[in-house]
Amino acid sequence: MEIKIAENDVKADVLILPLTEDYEGALYSKLDKETDGLIKRVIETKEFTGKHSELTRLYTKTGKVVLVGLGKAAEVTPERLRRAGGKVFLSPYLKGANVATAALSTGIFDELLKDSRHTAAFYFIEGGLLSRYEFKQYKKPEKEQQSNLKTLIVSGGLGSSGTSLKWLNAVIPAVSFARDLVNTPSSDMTPTILAEQAKTLAGKRVKVKILEADAAKKEGMGSYLSVAKGSVEPPKFIVIEYKGAASAKAAPVAIIGKSITFDSGGISIKPADGMEKMKYDMAGGAAALGIIKAAALLQLPMNLIAILPATENMPSGSATRPGDVVTAITGKTIEILNTDAEGRLVLADAIGYAIKHYKPSAIIDMATLTGACSIALGNEAAAMMGNNDALMDKLKKASAETYERVWQMPLYEEYKDYLKSDVADIKNIGGRTGGLVTAAYFLSEFVTDTPWVHLDIASTAFTDKDKPYICKGATGIGVRLVMDYLINSND
Ligand code: BES
Ligand code: MN
Ligand code: ZN
Repeated sequence: MEIKIAENDVKADVLILPLTEDYEGALYSKLDKETDGLIKRVIETKEFTGKHSELTRLYTKTGKVVLVGLGKAAEVTPERLRRAGGKVFLSPYLKGANVATAALSTGIFDELLKDSRHTAAFYFIEGGLLSRYEFKQYKKPEKEQQSNLKTLIVSGGLGSSGTSLKWLNAVIPAVSFARDLVNTPSSDMTPTILAEQAKTLAGKRVKVKILEADAAKKEGMGSYLSVAKGSVEPPKFIVIEYKGAASAKAAPVAIIGKSITFDSGGISIKPADGMEKMKYDMAGGAAALGIIKAAALLQLPMNLIAILPATENMPSGSATRPGDVVTAITGKTIEILNTDAEGRLVLADAIGYAIKHYKPSAIIDMATLTGACSIALGNEAAAMMGNNDALMDKLKKASAETYERVWQMPLYEEYKDYLKSDVADIKNIGGRTGGLVTAAYFLSEFVTDTPWVHLDIASTAFTDKDKPYICKGATGIGVRLVMDYLINSND
């Protein structure tokens, strides 16, 4: 959907009119006059009260008007605006053949959220745009649910500099891109196809390099390759360089995304129940690609690298066995006691590779790493662990801004003992307790002293139920969060 900024009266198939609960009636006096006081009447008769996410459609002399409630003005937050935006755009009032253009009246937004990063109008539109995502490649949508909306006309309210509009035009498509990659079934999102998707991002500032298995072997990435051994699908170690800084030599931020295109567990095979969900075990990698896409669209003035150690995790006669010992790129040996703890194995080499070849100023890894993550936090936040408080504080800020929430968990040095192996430098599982933190501790052993943060997105990358502006399936988590961090990382 295209967003057009128009300051004057506009013609549209429907006018969206947001109202707060304590709305006094002055703001829309012009429209009221044109409609013989209809809006005033609807409010006075309490037909519409402005409660959060309340919706009413009016047929007026001048056309269709959809009223949407924002709740009490004092209680408005960016997130409540996103949800109200999602509510309108998902409503039947904006669907159907006859609605191709909608106009959003932004007058009321000028009074709200004066201290936030963006305007109130921005958050409302952001929620609306995010809510419009659908994954329909494999299914014919039902007729009445189809949306024809092509243009949203906004009467100001997005700020004069245009940065908010640029963000929306870059980040929303990047989120949708990530969600598409994750929602696609594993048979159509193999490491090879994921690598092809990465190549679609190549351009003036973006270089995409794919390391095949033999190149990965030469690099010494025995930990990563041990996961790929059981699969007939060739692994693809995907490296993307984004150069936006004034100096090509400026140290990049490394974005590393777990990219297991299907996680059966390998020889330590998972139970059948719910295994289909393991197509989303590449959500970290999808987010990394989304971030590169958005960075390129916004021409971010910094250098980035994205690394996606892509492979399937499958059982077969050639698969890694529990008890096998492998050597990572850093030279550390790892005893594999459970082949289902494969994420950390591929990430260990990706982290090692990033440090060896790029000396990044910071590493952010995103991974659907542990089932224990949802035991700890439910589906409401990603778990965050790292070795650098300043970096984590910045991500907390980005989290508060984007509502892609993160919650910090500890990395106590005592966890080291949980990972002691009798036969190798480290083992890949930590025992019955602390699964979330021992997985992160394992990663820290490969990071050493580069500023690093790990985001376990296992319980937030996919949703089983529709949310106010995110439909069932992949959420695209990580894209908005990390983009907000990157854009404001110098604050
Ligand atoms: N991909 C899974 C983690 C996961 C589970 C993500 C559920 C999303 C939903 C990961 O590879 C895994 O299997 N982890 C194991 C580790 C265990 C064997 C130490 C787990 O959490 O059960
Ligand atoms: Mn696993
Ligand atoms: Zn996994």
